[in-house]
Amino acid sequence: MPLYGPQFSARPQDTYRVLRSMGSIAPIELSPGVFGLITTTYAAALHLLRNTPHHFAKNPRWWRALAEGQVPLDSPALMMMQARDNALWKDGPEHTRLRTAIIDSLAHINPHALRARVKRIADALIDALAPHGKADLVGSYAAELPMRVLFELFDCPPEIGLRIVGSLIRLFDTDQDAAAANADLEAACLDLTHLKRSSPGSDVTSWLIAHPARLTDAEMVQTILLVIGAGTEPSTNLIGNALKLMLTDERFSGSVIDGAQSVVGALDYVLWTDPPMANYCPLYAYQDTVYDGILLRAGVPILVSFAAANTDPTLNLTDAHLAGNDAHLAFSAGAHGCPSPDIARVITEVAVERVLDRLPGMELACPVDQLERRPGTFHSGWTAVPVIFPPIATSGESWTPPPRPAAPTASTAPHPTFTPRPPSSAPKARRRPWNFLVKWWRGQ
Ligand code: HEM
Repeated sequence: MPLYGPQFSARPQDTYRVLRSMGSIAPIELSPGVFGLITTTYAAALHLLRNTPHHFAKNPRWWRALAEGQVPLDSPALMMMQARDNALWKDGPEHTRLRTAIIDSLAHINPHALRARVKRIADALIDALAPHGKADLVGSYAAELPMRVLFELFDCPPEIGLRIVGSLIRLFDTDQDAAAANADLEAACLDLTHLKRSSPGSDVTSWLIAHPARLTDAEMVQTILLVIGAGTEPSTNLIGNALKLMLTDERFSGSVIDGAQSVVGALDYVLWTDPPMANYCPLYAYQDTVYDGILLRAGVPILVSFAAANTDPTLNLTDAHLAGNDAHLAFSAGAHGCPSPDIARVITEVAVERVLDRLPGMELACPVDQLERRPGTFHSGWTAVPVIFPPIATSGESWTPPPRPAAPTASTAPHPTFTPRPPSSAPKARRRPWNFLVKWWRGQ
């Protein structure tokens, strides 16, 4: 079954149901010409995650079809699954070393200070939207906020931030040379590393540099890209998915004014029913093995479906079981499980709370069936959530909301690590409203 295309994107649960009927691990086409397997149950997902790296590898050097040149070089799946020099794609001691540096560095972040920081950034974004009486909550808010937060946490100066954003725009949104854009992106991260090596401060970049793992410059570059990328795209989707839910589902919209608990409940509900990373963590059996009567051939990619696992009917979960229950797999589990669910929760909770507090009377600006889901195998979110609300005068500087992103053209989203594809395999992915970041860095 194809795990891409308009039919899959519009109703992914239909596809998971059919796949589940084939077995707890079922065959899929990840993107045109790229074949593999996917878990369809909670138990199968946990089995794979718990047995990595002992029986399954994360490192794509085990991907047989890739080694044999059978994966189209311009495949969107390749962009999301190719080897990169960071923790996401390593196994064993190499992985532990890089992951420990990330975990220890992020542990320096004070949750109270983070909450205040997110609130300040959210309020600045809302100040800019409020007088207009209308906004796209994805393009003008959910897509901007996590990136701004991450850049601040890394203490990325405007000049370098502008180069990072400019490179990303060139990588994802234009027909420019992907190799040159990649080189510029890495050069900007290297400059940030050099800057922080010479003048360290209280920021994630400096904590990574000071870590006993002694990351090289090249490892610093890839780790910066991993953490910024992994921290932004799923957070954007979770904010957008939760706001959409609260605007359209009476069970949540009715309780919005009750305060923060309804926001937490909506976030939990989304993490269970529509996780921002729907399918990922591609794994490879080292040798032919059998699980639940299904032959898993060595070197064949097996995606872990967090979305199918969380909605596995054998869990017998009702809505009443979901709030406050974090046994879902939205943050994955095991060796590569998300190291920062607490940071993700602060960013997304505050983001949703501030919109609801500051823009009372907000309503969806179109019928709910006109909302479009983002295309793609890996991410789950909405392309736009347009709203109207009574305009509010603010003292904020004049600011023009960024344009709505153009209709997506590729079947996948940019890689959460932002580590670019090789030049020859540069599909032009769906457009993302990166321009807002350029405006931001320029103080517009
Ligand atoms: C709602 C927000 C988030 C969700 C749903 C989420 C989900 C995930 C998932 C499913 C993975 C596993 C990916 C894989 O194995 O292929 C992962 C890994 C990771 N996440 Fe998150 N994440 C979120 C936010 C964040 C934030 C805010 C940060 C950092 C500040 C972060 C940093 C990372 C890193 C570094 C990894 C790689 C870990 C490793 O391979 O050892 N994530 N995340």
